[in-house]
Amino acid sequence: MSRPQHLCIRPLNVTDISQVLGLEITGFPKHERASALRIEYRLSVCPELCSGLFIREFDNNSVSSKELPDHSTIKKETLIGHVIGTKMLSETINNESMEVPSDFKSVMCNSDGTLKDEYKTKELKELETSNENIEPTEDEVHQEEEKKSARTYPLGHHDSGKTIGIHSVVISPEYRGKKLASLLLKDYLQKMSQQYVSESIALLCKSKLVPFYSGVGFSDKGVSACKFAGEEWHDMVVILDHEEEDEE
Ligand SMILES: CC(C)(COP(=O)(O)OP(=O)(O)OC[C@H]1O[C@@H](n2cnc3c(N)ncnc32)[C@H](O)[C@@H]1OP(=O)(O)O)[C@@H](O)C(=O)NCCC(=O)NCCS
Repeated sequence: MSRPQHLCIRPLNVTDISQVLGLEITGFPKHERASALRIEYRLSVCPELCSGLFIREFDNNSVSSKELPDHSTIKKETLIGHVIGTKMLSETINNESMEVPSDFKSVMCNSDGTLKDEYKTKELKELETSNENIEPTEDEVHQEEEKKSARTYPLGHHDSGKTIGIHSVVISPEYRGKKLASLLLKDYLQKMSQQYVSESIALLCKSKLVPFYSGVGFSDKGVSACKFAGEEWHDMVVILDHEEEDEE
């Protein structure tokens, strides 16, 4: 299990949207993927809850080895994993927490929720043409209708929420099996705990991934009432430990 060099974990922002969408395409079947609009919303309103794992490349020729560089030598950052969350008013994930409030003014997306061409990288355009059409399926449209009739919570992110809902965890296929998802999630849990961001973190996962999330610290609360994308999910929850480390 050799890990790539020059890994960097940092909060995501809207300039990363094209790479985030690329990972969503490689990570999830069409009906489980977040739309560009949902990603833009989350990266705009709560970037601190969205964490990216990058591989950095440096331009070592641009500075002499004897001098301190007077500018950043980072040439490229390739996103190979992400965790994307919002804050919720409930303790477990619900459909409302995944949605975008109607008053959100999108800059980067078309009216159908897809990303405008000017914000797409060459790599995303290539991925889209080699993958199936990414427009919403009929199933998704049907679920949208169902959701509208049974809403309990306000839509989207809520700064006053005590629980972070993680809506996406993905590692790029070529980097899987190297414990990078474990690395990214442990880093996320540690930061959210030590910075007092929330009291707990919740996510949905299929039964085959319960052991993986349990290994990172989540508890299995059983089959979820949330039937996102028409699938059966487990509610996974971790209570964050805010104990301060003893000062020397
Ligand atoms: C799930 C995913 C994020 C794991 O990434 P990863 O970096 O390969 O995970 P790790 O190397 O940290 O794996 C940790 C453990 O989980 C297990 N695991 C990972 N993916 C698994 C899968 N699809 N099914 C069953 N077990 C899995 C690994 O075997 C490993 O177990 P081990 O510790 O006993 O060896 C990655 O497979 C992925 O992006 N999948 C597609 C998107 C997805 O399903 N995300 C989860 C949404 S809830």
